[in-house]
Parts: sequence; C-alpha cells; structure tokens
Amino acid sequence: MGYIETAKEKFELLRAKKDVLILSIESSCDETSIAVVKNGREVLSNIVSSQIDIHKLYGGVVPEIASRNHIKNISTVLEQAIEEAKIKLEDIDAVAVTYGAGLMGALLVGVNFAKTLAYALNIPLIAVSHVHGHIGANYISHLDLKPPFLCLMVSGGHTAIVDVKDYCQFKLIGSTVDDSVGECFDKVARVLGLSYPGGPNIDRLAKQGKNVIKFNYKTPLRDTYNFSFSGLKTAVVNYVHNKEQKGEEICKEDVACTFQELVTDELCTKAIDACKKLGKDKIVVAGGVGANSRLREKLQNFGEKNNIKVYMPVLKYCTDNAAMIGAIAYYYLKAGIGLSDLTLTAKPTVGI
Ligand code: KG4
Ligand code: ZN
Repeated sequence: MGYIETAKEKFELLRAKKDVLILSIESSCDETSIAVVKNGREVLSNIVSSQIDIHKLYGGVVPEIASRNHIKNISTVLEQAIEEAKIKLEDIDAVAVTYGAGLMGALLVGVNFAKTLAYALNIPLIAVSHVHGHIGANYISHLDLKPPFLCLMVSGGHTAIVDVKDYCQFKLIGSTVDDSVGECFDKVARVLGLSYPGGPNIDRLAKQGKNVIKFNYKTPLRDTYNFSFSGLKTAVVNYVHNKEQKGEEICKEDVACTFQELVTDELCTKAIDACKKLGKDKIVVAGGVGANSRLREKLQNFGEKNNIKVYMPVLKYCTDNAAMIGAIAYYYLKAGIGLSDLTLTAKPTVGI
C-alpha cells in the first residue's frame, strides 16, 4: 500500500481511538514551534523558538529572514518537543501543520518538514488553518469549554467575530474592512518609536496614560459587526506627525492609552452586542491581541454585566504556538477533515 492509502486507513482508525497523540508544527510568521498534544486538550510539550530579537532590528518581520531561521531552528525544536513530552517519535499518531494563513516562505518550511515526518513515520498528515488554531488555544486553556460559542478573533492577520457552531463549524459574523487590530497596534507603536512587536509595548505604556486625547477621526462603523481601524490608525499617525512638525512634546503614554481605550471599546461593544443578538452565553477570545491586558479586563467586565461567560486563552497560548494547532487538529480528526496527501502546499491567505 502506498503512503496515502495507509494514511487514510490510519486516519479512520484514529477517529475512534481512545488516546490520540498529535505532533503539531507552526511556522506561519516568526515563531518556530512544535508541540505534542494528547486528545486535543493535554499539552505534553510546546516549544516556541521566537525570532523577535532578530526582527526587532528591522522594526517588523522580514519574511526571507523568518524562513531562513525556521530552517535553522526546526530540527532542534522537534528534538526538544519530543524530549519534553517524554515520548518517542514512533508514539505519535499523526502530524498536524499550519498550512495558512501566513508568510509563504515561512509556512513552506513547516509544511515540508511536516510532510517529511508524516511520510517517514507513515502516519496521517493533517493540514490546519492558523485562525482555527487560535480558537483551539482555548481548548487547552479551559478544559470545560465546548462549542457553541461566539469568538472574538483578534490577531495580527485577522479581526473578526465568528459564530463557532461546533468544533469545526465556523460562520463569519463580521470582520475588519481594512486593517487588522494587531496591525493597527504595531503601526501606532512604530510611530511612537516603540520596538517590534508593538502590541505589548502599547499595552505597557498605556498603563501610565492619564489624559484623553481627542483624535480627529470619524467614529467607527455602526450598525454592523464589521470593524474598521484604519481611520483611527491614520488619525493617531497624523496627530503624532503634526506635533512633531510643530516641535511640540508628545505624551506617548496618553496616546497609547487613548488609542487602546478606543480600540478595546469597539471590540468589546461589538462582541457583546453580537452575543446578545445571537443569543450566545459564551464569548471566547482568540489571537495575539487577546493578550492585551485592557481588552481582557474590559471584556470580563462587559461579560459580567451582561451575563455572558468570557473565556480567554492563558497568555502563552494567545500568540503563535504549536499547541493550539495540535488542539484543533484533534477536532479536525474527529470530524474527519484535514487529511492531506504529500502534495500539500502553503497558502498565504486562508479565511475563517
Ligand atoms: O495572533 P498573533 O500572534 O499572530 C497572527 O496570527 O497574526 O498576533 C500578533 C499580534 C501582533 O500584532 C502583536 O502586536 C499583537 O498580536 N499583540 C498584542 C499584545 N500582545 C501581542 N497587542 C496588544 N496588546 C498585547 N498585549
Ligand atoms: Zn497567529
């Protein structure tokens, strides 16, 4: 029997197997990560090799440098993931990999590594969408969490409200019509002279903000669950440039704080409104901006006031990591989706 026939057979057997060990790989941007996850919920290991210090020098991720560093690091990351999980390669039931969305070259490293492993071990290969992975971060953070729920997706690539009807059934309720919220945080950080990645630095600085600044921009989209952040982003950039041209001092703390308040208000208001309108009693946060302390605090408050239970990934699972990919891959397997042959390739854009 050839590879794919065996993989199909094993995939079907695994769907009914009691304990399933998935080795998952994530390389969509600047983290090289490999994890071992049992039954979609128990993280046996999750190694994340971050390239932040390298890309910091350039003020953002340089795709070619990211790909090269994934190649350099991925074998060591695998060894560490296996060692920390205290398993042998032969114990793994399936390999899962992020095939998109992300940087083409970076994704290709993970995809090709995963294909090689799956072929060498003669086990199924599961192709996972990165955004679904971010939702999966909540299954390893909250063992009691089950769909249905509404998801507020806030990452560097996506900003959306998603109706998660079942583990693998997603319906887009609204999304950004321009920039993602993560992009917006990073751009505002850059104009304030803060280093990459900007989000955590804005978060830190905003804690010292005291005065509200009046940015010159139209209020965001109303009567829709879509978001628009480019108007606010441009207003902040113009505010800073104007002040610089006039030689006036800028209170970076106030800029960060006002910006963060406006963005988190918009996200929380729309997410809670959508929950009420659709009759959902659970809101689940996904994506890197989910690490934002003000967003977490505000959403928790809004949720309590409206009797909506709020779930957020633990901080280490908010930003990119392979454990979240292994978590959702288990549910792909149970639903009978995602099995790939060795022609699998990377896709820079993948929707919800
Ligand atoms: O989900 P993620 O790790 O990557 C994508 O899939 O895009 O998200 C990365 C984004 C970056 O824009 C980063 O600045 C932002 O998440 N981020 C934050 C915080 N931590 C990370 N934004 C605001 N506050 C934070 N604490
Ligand atoms: Zn991500």
